[in-house]
Amino acid sequence: MTTLAERHKTIERNITLLAVLALLTVAIGGIVEIAPLFWIQSTVTPVPGVRPYSPLELAGRDIYVREGCYGCHSQMIRPFRDEVERYGHYSLAAESMYDHPFQWGSIRTGPDLARVGGRYSDEWHVQHLKYPQAVVPESIMPRYAFLADRALKPETIAGHLRALADVGVPYGKEAIDAAEADLIAQGTPDADTAGLLKRYPKAQARDFDGDPKRLTEMDALIAYLQSLGTQVDFKAAEPREQAR
Ligand code: HEC
Repeated sequence: MTTLAERHKTIERNITLLAVLALLTVAIGGIVEIAPLFWIQSTVTPVPGVRPYSPLELAGRDIYVREGCYGCHSQMIRPFRDEVERYGHYSLAAESMYDHPFQWGSIRTGPDLARVGGRYSDEWHVQHLKYPQAVVPESIMPRYAFLADRALKPETIAGHLRALADVGVPYGKEAIDAAEADLIAQGTPDADTAGLLKRYPKAQARDFDGDPKRLTEMDALIAYLQSLGTQVDFKAAEPREQAR
């Protein structure tokens, strides 16, 4: 009778057999790791409140990406006590399910921004983005005052929604057709926002940059920052936190 060790000797002495079997073993491991990614939609647990970005928030996000804010800021609160106490509830996978590409980042020269929405007033953000040292004297953040002078181009936003719809973000035809109007409505005081709020619940609509006459890149960026981390209602989901 051949023992297991003897059978293994056969494999070890036959280089072709060894190569074929090694390849097979690695392939099984590979498939087990890679295959679930094709069904990623179902591996991210859906969380109530998470919705795609409104057109104005999306325009702001594009500016955030363009200016490389992620080079200094993360958007990913890790489930550690020090992080949760400083920034709030740790980030959920669902909160960045509509981010293409996601903005988790890998370095924190500045603080994490995953839950910066609502932490400061719009005026604070305008001041801070124009001249960070005016509000935080020791800040090394660069100045972005030019954003307040650059007009937003509402006519380009429908294409952005369409591109995201192609990679699986649930923007329907209605949302894409209304994108330009929704973008303008969200950044213009006293505009009709009924359609906007139906499509994007809890979207904040107002003049963000302190210049109600113009829709600027500053409006879009602040609308985006003020929305960060505000979609999920953690107080309702976790009664223990409410009691504290
Ligand atoms: C060179 C690194 C750097 C870059 C690039 C940068 N920041 Fe900052 N940011 C900082 C630092 C440092 C701080 C902390 C000091 C301060 O508040 O200015 C900060 C603070 C902030 C805060 C306040 C966060 C808080 O919780 O107090 C916001 C909001 C912010 N940055 C947004 C942005 C945006 C938007 C961009 C891109 C347009 C950007 N930052 C680009 C370094 C940077």
